[in-house]
Amino acid sequence: HEHGTHVEGAGGEMDQRFTEGESEETLTTSQGHPVRNNQQTRTVGKRGPATLENYEFIEKISHFDRERVPERVVHARGTGAHGYFETYGKAGDEPVENYTRAKVFSGEGKKTPVLVRFSTVIHGKDSPETLRDPRGFAVKFYTEDGNWDLVGNNLKVFFIRDAIKFPDLIHALKPDPVTNIQDNRRIFDFMSHTPEAMHMLTFLYSPWGIPANYRLMQGSGVNTYKWVNEHGDAWLVKYHWEPVQGIKNLTQEEADELQGKNFSHATQDLYESIEEGNYPEWELCVQLMEDGEHKELDFDPLDDTKLWPEEQFPFLKVGRMVLNKNPENHFAEIEQAAFGTGVLVDGMDFSDDKMLQGRTFSYSDTQRYRIGANYLQLPTNSPKKHVATNQRDGNMTYHVDQGPNQNPHVNYEPSSYNGLEESEQVVDYHQPYVEGKLQRSEIDRTNDYKQAGERYRTFEDWERNDLITNLVNSLKPCTPEIQHKMVEMFWKCDADYGRRVGEGLGMKFKEDGTVDTEFAAEITPTKGKLPGSVG
Ligand code: HEM
Repeated sequence: HEHGTHVEGAGGEMDQRFTEGESEETLTTSQGHPVRNNQQTRTVGKRGPATLENYEFIEKISHFDRERVPERVVHARGTGAHGYFETYGKAGDEPVENYTRAKVFSGEGKKTPVLVRFSTVIHGKDSPETLRDPRGFAVKFYTEDGNWDLVGNNLKVFFIRDAIKFPDLIHALKPDPVTNIQDNRRIFDFMSHTPEAMHMLTFLYSPWGIPANYRLMQGSGVNTYKWVNEHGDAWLVKYHWEPVQGIKNLTQEEADELQGKNFSHATQDLYESIEEGNYPEWELCVQLMEDGEHKELDFDPLDDTKLWPEEQFPFLKVGRMVLNKNPENHFAEIEQAAFGTGVLVDGMDFSDDKMLQGRTFSYSDTQRYRIGANYLQLPTNSPKKHVATNQRDGNMTYHVDQGPNQNPHVNYEPSSYNGLEESEQVVDYHQPYVEGKLQRSEIDRTNDYKQAGERYRTFEDWERNDLITNLVNSLKPCTPEIQHKMVEMFWKCDADYGRRVGEGLGMKFKEDGTVDTEFAAEITPTKGKLPGSVG
């Protein structure tokens, strides 16, 4: 549809009549009235007062009063771009169809339009982009089978493995509800009770916690999904985006320096690169595992605090993504964009990963609140193929999602009066057999420290040094009890790791590596004392 160029009436189209001095470029109200004075409010006499019936003014100011929608509860600060995904037609050396029948991967050189949004996680929508924080990497594929969203982060693992802990994790990381200041005492209070976070913390407090910008970072789906082929066979799959531009991370010192000059450097970098025709590109790789528990592994393949060792589960390239178009309007296309882990296409399925299952409820739920019940009618979110539903009405209904030949009276199914009908496509569903006691319990192979220790040892020296400095500085304001607990956990990851953080905090270690009791004696219980009231 076009605005303002013509009006359709009962008698067909008629030309918009412009009075003299008006054209299509003339400023109007949203009601289409030409605006003749946009500088002065209508007032009684030159000096006022203003009058309430001034529709033009009220329309303008009240729309302004409603310019914001609630920002995302996490990942509020972000930017994005459009582009395409192009298939290789293979997963490594094998035809990709052996593993998935998802059409978005099939054939060679097939392009699917995408929308990507990059973000930081914890702070508000205008916060600095230099902060230590995971980076979001969300991709919406507008595929021929409808939308597929791959909602990932730059880091390949996460803090927790059960969605029920997410609100607590985020509350600990977000500003204190009293002081409104992010507080390491609260963060490490939570982390000291969360051994599964050690792997993520080891990444996050190293330079990997501050990517130089969005172009120079990886992406990962983090959670374990499934691929389903035409026979209904399933594979467990993890997704990874590898930047063709390379990877670059910042030390805390470099980030501090940059933040003093520009707190939107990552947004600016992406926007300007695309404007200059320097289009960023990522290759999409997958790791595959036969569906199953894999008891032979020392971790659970559904545990998102773990990496799947690359030697055992090689990265198989399946395609590449190029970002080549900036949004025309940030709010319409990026702020209102809605990504969710539930948005899969045929040939993909959910695994029992408890984080993935919780996330899948959370995203669409928050979007119905953040944007509105009809958020999928917005052009940025709606699939680029036909949509025909029996869903009707609700706040801000923009159009009726009806089929071209659907009887508009029939918004239900089944019907004999030309309503919508189910697809006749026959597919072999993936039908996993599930049996078990309904219970709340931890998974068996928690193995919280091993991969964190491996990570510590494979870092380069400068990365390890920065990690230690950052942890020591961040733990300084914490109580000795929390410091001790954290050091003990770093110790369990790697003795050198624990020792260096502990020594940085002034702890003395005995020969056998345990902390000197003199230090332990200083440990005072923090129970009942709020961090905000310390001192
Ligand atoms: C955004 C929930 C874990 C990546 C969000 C939003 C919610 C949410 C409510 C805001 C969405 C919106 O307003 O549109 C959760 C829950 C999690 C979880 C409940 C754990 C149970 C993760 C993990 C990742 C991740 C593990 C990384 C793989 C993202 C990204 C965004 C986001 C990238 C921003 C999407 C965008 O750019 O619009 N999450 N999240 N989240 N989350 Fe999660």
